[in-house]
Amino acid sequence: MVLLNKIEINPPLINSSCAWSSDLVDLTALYESPYTGAITTRTATFNGYGEDKAINTVAFAVDTDTTLNSYGYSPHPLAAYLGWVETILTGSKHSITKPIIISITASTVETIKAMIDAIQALRFKLGDNTSELAKIAIELNTSCPNIPNSPPSGYTFSYLLPLLQVLRDAHSEDPTLTVGLKLPPYTYKGQFNDVISGLGLLARNKISAFAFITCTNTLGNSLLFAEQTGANTQQTFAVPTALGGIAGDAIHPLALGNVYTFKELLSSQEAMDAGIADTKIIGVGGVTSKAAAERMKKAGADVIGCATLLGKEGVHAFEILGKEL
Ligand SMILES: Cc1cc2nc3c(=O)[nH]c(=O)nc-3n(C[C@H](O)[C@H](O)[C@H](O)COP(=O)(O)O)c2cc1C
Repeated sequence: MVLLNKIEINPPLINSSCAWSSDLVDLTALYESPYTGAITTRTATFNGYGEDKAINTVAFAVDTDTTLNSYGYSPHPLAAYLGWVETILTGSKHSITKPIIISITASTVETIKAMIDAIQALRFKLGDNTSELAKIAIELNTSCPNIPNSPPSGYTFSYLLPLLQVLRDAHSEDPTLTVGLKLPPYTYKGQFNDVISGLGLLARNKISAFAFITCTNTLGNSLLFAEQTGANTQQTFAVPTALGGIAGDAIHPLALGNVYTFKELLSSQEAMDAGIADTKIIGVGGVTSKAAAERMKKAGADVIGCATLLGKEGVHAFEILGKEL
């Protein structure tokens, strides 16, 4: 059992935001699995992303549990997710405490405010702000590599600060609101330090609004050829855009390294002084077997998540990973 501000994840195993947590059918199956301790929605924008089925897709490698995807965000708007979350939380007979993490993204302060207001309206309606444990949390996706002309904001953490301030203020106003950040895979120390000092700057009176970080998203600008995926080899590339975000086995060492580095930094005296040392880590990236899940835990993850294995196995993925985790 792991507590992230006001949500409890038990067992500490979840799906990370992805194309297989897109709609009510996906989300219900994930929620009803006894092996998930929480579920995460696909990333929603306020109005829905203009998905182009000719471009936005995913390919599976044949020889490893690796995916390359060219998806943007969910075509469904935030309002659709709020309706589905309400349906699941008011209808489920299974767990009374299993939370749903709503993944959102926006590029302006006005939009993020509107999205938080809509989520809070649902939380207040369901009494989520007054119960001992909450069931709705927010994950801000700062790291989709596939949006044309919009690089992952998590790579320039200082640019994110105005958006993060809005989330921080929402948490100050209602400390029952649980907020986390989905980060891109980082490759050198300065990038990790920027996140840590940014979180430190945002903390108020040594209290951080950000209960968790999710490491990592896919690694952008990656390429697989069609013959590596068993796809139609008349095409040259595995996905129509040639480039996409790589995930699964191929990013596992990098994801472990990101989790390990954040764990070290969050255990430092500096993090303690800044009041961010209690930030939990959701470790994601190449968790495609029980052994990989164990490695993620050993690297420092408090909670473990996966997307590629879910895409391959369906909800059974959590049974594979979950036994005795
Ligand atoms: C098909 C697909 C769609 C994804 N969509 C999202 C998304 O909407 N939001 C997000 O934060 N991450 C998204 N991701 C990234 C995953 O949540 C995860 O961070 C990444 O795939 C690494 O985990 P894995 O190795 O278990 O796949 C997506 C990944 C895949 C494979």
